[in-house]
Amino acid sequence: MAVRRLAPKELQPASFAFSAENLDWVKKQIEKYPPGRQAAAVIPVLWRAQEQHDGWISEAAIRGVADLLGMPHIRVMEIATFYTMFQLSPVGKKAHVQVCGTTPCMLRGAGELIDVCKHRIHHDPFHVSADGDFSWEEVECLGACVNAPMVMIWKDTYEDLTPETLNKVLDGFASGNPPKPGPQIDRHCAAPVGGPRVLKAPEKAGSK
Ligand code: FES
Repeated sequence: MAVRRLAPKELQPASFAFSAENLDWVKKQIEKYPPGRQAAAVIPVLWRAQEQHDGWISEAAIRGVADLLGMPHIRVMEIATFYTMFQLSPVGKKAHVQVCGTTPCMLRGAGELIDVCKHRIHHDPFHVSADGDFSWEEVECLGACVNAPMVMIWKDTYEDLTPETLNKVLDGFASGNPPKPGPQIDRHCAAPVGGPRVLKAPEKAGSK
């Protein structure tokens, strides 16, 4: 996993403020928790800040969220730099591709997915493509190992990928028409490929 640092100063905006609509939403999240426990809302509030700010969290956003929740700045910095769901520098406008590189995905071809990203987006992770539309990185297990190899783009996962189907997924994002998330083969969620293999017959257990 890459070292997670804030973007350099020249990329950092001077300030951050939630839009009126997002601020309303943030206040509703805070109200879900007992008085004095507003810090419990930090993850969704940071995520909202990221969505508002083109898919990445600036230092100003970290400070703004901390002030809003009455938390020390360093606590929010720790959270933003720990979780790979938070991006710390500018990402592609249309898609930031997080390729799972943990063992099950690697054994099932994640290396070839990374090659697609290297050729199609940028040779190096955390660099935006020449047209500004895409970026990528390798992350640790995203919890969909049974559908390995897989990627996450924004909030959705695309699973059971090959280099060809990953290219199709990226084509979809490029044209503004992303495919349906989930398995990219004929498979229902994490059910066996080809359909159910057990509990298909109505006979009682033990009968022929
Ligand atoms: S190893 Fe890739 S999702 Fe778990």
